[in-house]
Amino acid sequence: MTRASSTGRQFPPAVPMLILSTFFMALIPAFVHAQLSTDDHLAEPGWWPRRKPANLKQFAGNAACAKCHSRITASQEATPMARTLMPAADAEVLHGRTDLAFRNGKYLYQIKPNKGAPQLIVTDGARSIIADLVWAFGTGKLGQSYLFLQDGAYRESRVTYFSSLQNLHFTPTRALLSPRDLEEATSRPVDNSELLRCFSCHSLGANLGAQLDTSKAALGVTCEACHGPGLKHMQAMEASQLQQGIGDEEGRQLIFNPGSLSPGDSVDFCGSCHGTWWDVKLTHMAGIANVRAQAYRLLSSRCWGSGDVRLTCIACHNPHEPLSKETSNFDSKCLACHVNSPTAKPEKDHPGAACPVATKDCITCHMPKIEIPDMHTAFADHLIRVVRPGAPIPN
Ligand code: HEC
Ligand code: HEC
Ligand code: HEC
Ligand code: HEC
Ligand code: HEC
Ligand code: HEC
Ligand code: HEC
Repeated sequence: MTRASSTGRQFPPAVPMLILSTFFMALIPAFVHAQLSTDDHLAEPGWWPRRKPANLKQFAGNAACAKCHSRITASQEATPMARTLMPAADAEVLHGRTDLAFRNGKYLYQIKPNKGAPQLIVTDGARSIIADLVWAFGTGKLGQSYLFLQDGAYRESRVTYFSSLQNLHFTPTRALLSPRDLEEATSRPVDNSELLRCFSCHSLGANLGAQLDTSKAALGVTCEACHGPGLKHMQAMEASQLQQGIGDEEGRQLIFNPGSLSPGDSVDFCGSCHGTWWDVKLTHMAGIANVRAQAYRLLSSRCWGSGDVRLTCIACHNPHEPLSKETSNFDSKCLACHVNSPTAKPEKDHPGAACPVATKDCITCHMPKIEIPDMHTAFADHLIRVVRPGAPIPN
C-alpha cells in the first residue's frame, strides 16, 4: 500500500487511508497490542535485559549471589546461556584440535590451536592471512563464531565451528561463494553499533560507553543480566541476616524478579534476546530464520490466545537449569490447558481441545524440529500447530 503523498495527488486521500489502516490494524491479532519491541521496553524505567547501565557500581557479580543462592548459581553457571561468550583461548571446542578445516574453491580455512592462542589461517594458494582470535561467541553446543582485531577494529571470521559437523563451515548468513579477494574471503568488518548489540545479548556491561569496552564486562548471561543490579539487595539481605530476618521484605523489593511479570511481558523479557513478536516484525525478519525467534513463534500459535501464564517461556524452561530434552516432561505443560481424552470437551480451566491422534509425546508432532541449513542443526518450532505433510513452514 502506498502512502498518500503531501502533494495530495496520490490516492487514497487521508480519510479513507485512516479507515483502511484501521481495517488492517484489525487484522493484527489482539495480543500484539499488549506486546512491545525490545527498544520500547528499554525506553521504560526499571530493569530490562540488554539495558545499558550508567556504570557497574550497583552490580555485585555472580560470586556474590552464590554466597546465599548457592544451588541456583551452581546450576545456572552450567547452562549454555551462562557460558555463551569467552576469550577464544578458553574455547574448549578448539582445544587440541589440529584438524579443523573448510575449503571453498581455492580458499582453505583452518583454525590451529597455536599453543593456546588459537589462530585463523586462510590461504588462497598464493597468499595467507593469519589472525589471532580474540572472542568466541556461543558455547559450541551448536556452534561457535569468532571475532578478531585487525588494525584496531573487530572483524568476524567467515567460518564458524559447528558441533554437528565437528568442523568448520561458513558463518550463518555470511556465506560468500565468490569473494573478491583473500581479505573478503577471510572475514567481514563488524562496526561498533553491531558489536555493542552482540555483546549486549552475550554479556553484561561491555556497552557502558559509546565504544565497546570489555574490560569490566561479565561474560555470558549472568544473574544480573536478567535480575538487574544486585548490590543493594545483597547489602540489605546481609544486614537482615545480622538482624535475624528484619528487613527481609525490603531486601526482596531491591532486586528485579521477572517471575512477577504479566505473561505478555514475561515472554517479551526472554524475547529481548530471543526475538519478541515486534522485534521480528520491525526488522522484517522472514522465512526459516525466524524459527529461531522462539518468542515470535510462540505468540503466533493459537494456543497463546491473549496470553497465559501456562505458556510463558518459564512455564516450560527453568532459566537456571540446562534445557530438558525429555519429551515426556513437556506433556504436562500441554495438558495444563488441553483435555486429554477423546470424549472430554474443553472447559473454562482447560480451554484446549483433546488430540484425536495421541495422548502423550505432544511436542514430537506439534513442535517439530526444523532443520536450518545455515546452522546445520534442527530447532524446535515454537509455533505450536497441527503439521500437515508437505505443507510449507508458516512464516
Ligand atoms: C546475603 C544473602 C544474599 C545475597 C548475597 C543475595 N541474595 Fe538474593 N535473596 C536472599 C534472600 C534471603 C532472599 C529471599 C528468600 C529467597 O527467595 O530465596 C533473596 C531473594 C532473591 C530473589 C527473589 C526476590 C523476590 O521477588 O522474592 C532474587 C531474584 C534474588 N534474591 C537474586 C539475587 C541475585 C541476582 C544476587 C546477586 C547479585 C543475590 N540475590 C544475592 C539473600 C541474598
Ligand atoms: C541477555 C540475553 C538473553 C536473555 C535475556 C535470555 N537468553 Fe536464553 N540464551 C541467550 C543466548 C546468547 C543463548 C545461546 C547459548 C549458547 O551459546 O548455546 C541462549 C540459550 C537459551 C536456551 C538454550 C539452551 C540450550 O541448552 O541449548 C534456552 C532454553 C534459553 N536460552 C531460554 C531462555 C529463557 C527461558 C529466557 C527468559 C527467562 C532467556 N533464555 C533469556 C541469551 C539470552
Ligand atoms: C538480540 C540478541 C542477540 C544478538 C544481537 C546477537 N546474538 Fe548471538 N545469540 C542470541 C541468542 C538468543 C542465541 C541462542 C539462539 C538459539 O539457540 O535459538 C544466540 C546464539 C549465538 C551463537 C551460538 C550458535 C547459535 O547460533 O546458536 C553464536 C555463535 C552467536 N550467537 C554469535 C553472535 C555474534 C557473533 C553476534 C554479533 C555479530 C551475535 N551473536 C549477536 C542472541 C543474540
Ligand atoms: C535468563 C534469565 C535469568 C538468569 C540468567 C538468572 N535468572 Fe534468576 N530468575 C529468572 C526468572 C525468569 C525467574 C522467575 C522464575 C519463576 O518465577 O518461575 C527467576 C527467579 C529467581 C529467584 C527467585 C526464586 C526462584 O527460584 O524462583 C532467585 C533467588 C534467582 N532467580 C536467582 C538467580 C541467580 C542467583 C542467578 C545467577 C546465578 C540467576 N537467578 C540467573 C531469570 C534468570
Ligand atoms: C510448551 C513448552 C515450551 C514453551 C512455552 C517454550 N519452549 Fe522453548 N523449547 C521447548 C521444547 C520442547 C524444546 C526442544 C527441546 C529439545 O531439544 O528436545 C525447546 C527448545 C528451546 C531452545 C533451544 C533451541 C531450539 O529452538 O530448539 C530455546 C533457545 C528455547 N526453547 C527458548 C524458548 C523461549 C525463549 C521461550 C519463550 C518465548 C520458549 N522457549 C518457550 C518447549 C517450550
Ligand atoms: C495456555 C493454554 C495452552 C497451552 C499451555 C497449550 N495450548 Fe494448545 N491450544 C490452546 C487453545 C485455547 C487452543 C485453541 C482451541 C483449540 O483448538 O483447542 C489451542 C490449540 C492447539 C492446537 C490446534 C492448533 C491449530 O492451529 O489448529 C494444537 C495442535 C495444540 N494446541 C497443541 C498444543 C501442544 C502440543 C501444547 C504443548 C506443547 C499446547 N497446545 C499447549 C491452549 C493451550
Ligand atoms: C503422533 C503425532 C501426534 C502426537 C504425539 C500428538 N498429536 Fe495432536 N494431532 C496430531 C494430528 C495429525 C492432528 C490433526 C488431526 C486431524 O485433524 O485429523 C492433531 C490434532 C491435535 C489438536 C487439534 C484438535 C482439534 O480438534 O482441532 C490438538 C489440540 C492436539 N492435537 C493436541 C495434542 C496434545 C495436547 C498432545 C499430547 C497429549 C498431542 N496432540 C499429541 C498428531 C499428534
